[in-house]
Amino acid sequence: MVLKIVKYPDSILRKRCLSVKRISKEIIDLSDDMIETMKKSDGLGLAANQVGSQVQVFVLNTTPREDSPTSEIFINPKILDQEGSVIEEEGCLSFPGLYLKITRYEKVRLHAKNLYNEDIIYESSGLLARAIQHEIDHLNGVVFIDHANKEDEQVIRDYLANLDASVETK
Ligand code: CO
Repeated sequence: MVLKIVKYPDSILRKRCLSVKRISKEIIDLSDDMIETMKKSDGLGLAANQVGSQVQVFVLNTTPREDSPTSEIFINPKILDQEGSVIEEEGCLSFPGLYLKITRYEKVRLHAKNLYNEDIIYESSGLLARAIQHEIDHLNGVVFIDHANKEDEQVIRDYLANLDASVETK
């Protein structure tokens, strides 16, 4: 089932997601729906609070350049190691139309559980490492505008002002 993506400034995007204690049917169904939602929206990743669930789960499109992309599910993820630094343009499904240059680690090594409650270690670099850092931020209530450079401050202010205006006219 395709879920509705929560847009900023919905307060759930500022909440810390809770650790998953047991991989229940709800978590399995949520993960399936998140993958479907991510694919439908052409996203590279999606965090659970972006679809209204305050749990530590994110999904990632791990082969974004292929015709039939494969997806990975990460439960209770933690970054173990990180190195390097790279600035690239980034977007977010909760901020449609906003793109900002964000500095991220170039490589990250991640620990998480999969849907079978197995430990997984996932090493990534470049685009996927960037997406992982972006999604883990979401699970901690952090959004990409928090990392923006000084020169994008005005762009963000304009974007947010526009959001306020569209909320008022509803
Ligand atoms: Co995002």
